[in-house]
Amino acid sequence: MAEDLVVSKGSKVEQYDSLISQIKGLLDGETDVVANLANVVAALKEQFGWFWVGFYLVKKNELVLGPFQGPVACTRIRYGRGVCGASWEQEKTLIVPDVEKFPGHIACSSLSRSEIVVPVVRDGKVIGVLDVDSSELDEFDTVDQKYLEQIISLIVF
Ligand code: SME
Repeated sequence: MAEDLVVSKGSKVEQYDSLISQIKGLLDGETDVVANLANVVAALKEQFGWFWVGFYLVKKNELVLGPFQGPVACTRIRYGRGVCGASWEQEKTLIVPDVEKFPGHIACSSLSRSEIVVPVVRDGKVIGVLDVDSSELDEFDTVDQKYLEQIISLIVF
């Protein structure tokens, strides 16, 4: 059984370091992808309190909503559409300091102000994205990028 998450109160780097060792523990010995994605988004949401944290997974030619924490969200996003579809198309992490300035941003909630989307790449192909939304402007930077990419690399799909 999983132990309660210990929510770290230090700097952002200290918070990620503490979180990553706990995520390694959560993932250890569990092979079910949905269970692991669900626990990763729950751990991120609990540690940082962001507005919305979730995965979209590539199914046929679309991203389809996967495990998430936060308000209900758009279920399908097409290739190249929104920040998520753009991250898929460009195969790279996108940091959006102000969603209103991102052409084509898909507003699942008007409360979301900034966003980071990290593609999940396996065998050279994007198989999904991790999407994190904040109710604050300019929430995410390259520290988040580095650690979120590291967290995603820990998940076996
Ligand atoms: N804003 C995203 C859509 C997903 S929701 O934020 C949960 C986008 O533009 O792709």
